[in-house]
Amino acid sequence: MSDEFQLMGKRALVTGATRGLGRAMAEGLARAGARVVITGRKQDACDNAAKEIAATTGQEVIGMACHMGDWNQIDRLSDEIDSRFGALDILVNNAGINPAFMPVCDITSEFFDKLYAVNVKGPMRLAARVAPKMGAAGGGSIINVITVGAYVGGPGIGAYSSSKAALLNLTKVMATEWASQGIRVNALAPGPFMTDMMRGAAANLPAFSEATKNATLQKRIADPSEIVGSVLYLASDASSFVTGEDLRVTGGMSAS
Ligand SMILES: NC(=O)c1ccc[n+]([C@@H]2O[C@H](COP(=O)([O-])OP(=O)(O)OC[C@H]3O[C@@H](n4cnc5c(N)ncnc54)[C@H](OP(=O)(O)O)[C@@H]3O)[C@@H](O)[C@H]2O)c1
Repeated sequence: MSDEFQLMGKRALVTGATRGLGRAMAEGLARAGARVVITGRKQDACDNAAKEIAATTGQEVIGMACHMGDWNQIDRLSDEIDSRFGALDILVNNAGINPAFMPVCDITSEFFDKLYAVNVKGPMRLAARVAPKMGAAGGGSIINVITVGAYVGGPGIGAYSSSKAALLNLTKVMATEWASQGIRVNALAPGPFMTDMMRGAAANLPAFSEATKNATLQKRIADPSEIVGSVLYLASDASSFVTGEDLRVTGGMSAS
């Protein structure tokens, strides 16, 4: 690996990394040399994933349970990271949910609040807790995972896609507020990847995965491992002059 992509000695946190894209990202960061904290909602799932990633990469990987929709749990997570791990160099706000397709007329108050709590409020709070220490330690990289749907919306995904559009906007706000502390903040917008989220969507709407696949230029749904290069780029010095930007990893999906 060329020097700009090395992460030796760096400390990273990836939320929602017990499986799916977060798990692939955590493995990729560890392989590049970072020590990694991973989160999910349940401690045993975090411990199992951490143990497996540590075994395959030879890096220190710690699992810490944290529900990203719970402000107090997020504060506790950041306190625990401070005491057990130290200031972070890399934060990947990856955890996100889209529990159901829901036309706007059917969206309930509870559904909307739950989705925005996990997809917007949680990542914002975590970044707010991480940034001061990251800045005091010399800077770092924050990556907010959105979706290609944040640019275009689509039927049945209004709560989800608008929450990710809000996170995209917050990414740009954070980048302006923290640039002077050496913190870069960027959004990563995946297209279709074969994870439990995609399998759930396909089960709810059988035509979904076929339509999504056909909307890419490559006519396929990606493997989670294909997100790793983009995360390493945004996390490392390879993107040292990139902040307040959004990177689409979509196999050529149109975003307009
Ligand atoms: N897959 C795609 O095609 C696709 C496309 C565009 C964007 N994305 C975005 O990419 C990110 C990852 O998606 P994915 O497909 O990998 O999802 P996934 O397969 O459903 O995995 C989600 C991960 O987040 C964790 N998680 C779920 N709810 C959580 C909560 N409330 N608090 C903390 N952790 C939670 C899960 O762990 P536990 O169950 O152990 O808690 C799991 O590790 C999401 O932000 C998603 O919106 C995905």
